[in-house]
Amino acid sequence: HPPLRVALLGCGVVGTQVARLLTEQADDLASRVGARLELVGIAVRDAAAPRDAAIDRSLLTEDAEGLVARADVVVEVMGGTEPARALLLRAIEAGAAVVTANKALLAEDGPTLYKAADAAGVDIYFEAAVAGAIPIVRPVRESLAGDHVRRVLGIVNGTTNYVLDQMATTGMGLEEAVKEAQDLGYAEADPTADVEGYDAAAKAAILASLAFHTRVSLDDVAREGIMSVTAADVAWAAQTGHVIKLLAIAELRDGTSAGGSAGVSVRVHPALVPTSHPLANVRGSFNAVFVEAESAGELMFYGRGAGGAPTASAVLGDVVSAARHRVLGGKGPQESTYAELAILPASAA
Ligand code: NDP
Ligand code: HSE
Repeated sequence: HPPLRVALLGCGVVGTQVARLLTEQADDLASRVGARLELVGIAVRDAAAPRDAAIDRSLLTEDAEGLVARADVVVEVMGGTEPARALLLRAIEAGAAVVTANKALLAEDGPTLYKAADAAGVDIYFEAAVAGAIPIVRPVRESLAGDHVRRVLGIVNGTTNYVLDQMATTGMGLEEAVKEAQDLGYAEADPTADVEGYDAAAKAAILASLAFHTRVSLDDVAREGIMSVTAADVAWAAQTGHVIKLLAIAELRDGTSAGGSAGVSVRVHPALVPTSHPLANVRGSFNAVFVEAESAGELMFYGRGAGGAPTASAVLGDVVSAARHRVLGGKGPQESTYAELAILPASAA
């Protein structure tokens, strides 16, 4: 099979690691895919800026549109809503498969992208958009498609987990801990998205949409971040045998409880977790997600939830899947059918 042209949009924390792995593992990837993956360009804002030594500078371009036009697989790790959305739509319309780590975009306007991909008959993959290295999108989207998921609950933001963990174990202040999370490559370009709970809410919306086969967007998620958590709260929690964790919870409510309404409820907020609970032992930038399904029972997914290399691992897995479909024929899962479930308002959460 002739080589497949891969365009990389973004060369920051994640993009640098994706480029490195595509280059270093070129032979392995070729044997897994059945064709070589040729990195044809890397779109950035500033092509003259200093880069990691692993980056072939001759691939850098500020012409993202031009790059997208000559790719079989487009990998978007630039973040933000625009121009990411326009570039992905352009890629899809041109018949390229797309892989994205952009949870903010998917939570805001995922259905537009899924619909476009279905119409064009191309793949859209986004394993890296939720919980970094942890395979959680594929299990919920595909492995559990024959079951009925009742609840998804867990820690889905590495930055806030790192911050709360540092506050509890070293007595570090919130601001200093956020700065460390930024330096370690865990935080979003604007860390407000992490500490105010927007990032976790976006991930909760994506997981809820997949788990309940419905459309949940960021605005449907009741959200409270960690900005109001004080050193005194953390100390009091420890004295009473708890730790404070930012939890994301998405559940199906059948409306049978007193006054309950049927539908989907999705929320993100700090919670007191008893130290004996497995979630209490999720340290640093790690994430953990519990999924409860009717037949499967309870499943737990655990691993590195943020950072360049862990996230690049998830991106590469998606690239291999999309590339294999190009070589062998076939297509990944589609999103075109949705149940009409009520999304319960924040007050019902
Ligand atoms: P960075 O801010 O480190 O990198 C962003 C990259 O995109 C930079 O190379 C930047 O160029 C480029 N870029 C941004 N805007 C444009 C534009 N308009 N045109 C061309 N290039 C542009 O972000 P991350 O790598 O941390 O994150 C990327 C994506 O991955 C985001 O969607 C994020 O939410 C997601 N993600 C991040 C994780 C993490 O742990 N960091 C984990 C999981 C998902 P330049 O270098 O010139 O500034
Ligand atoms: N900022 C995100 C986090 C990156 O801290 O979890 C991973 O999605």
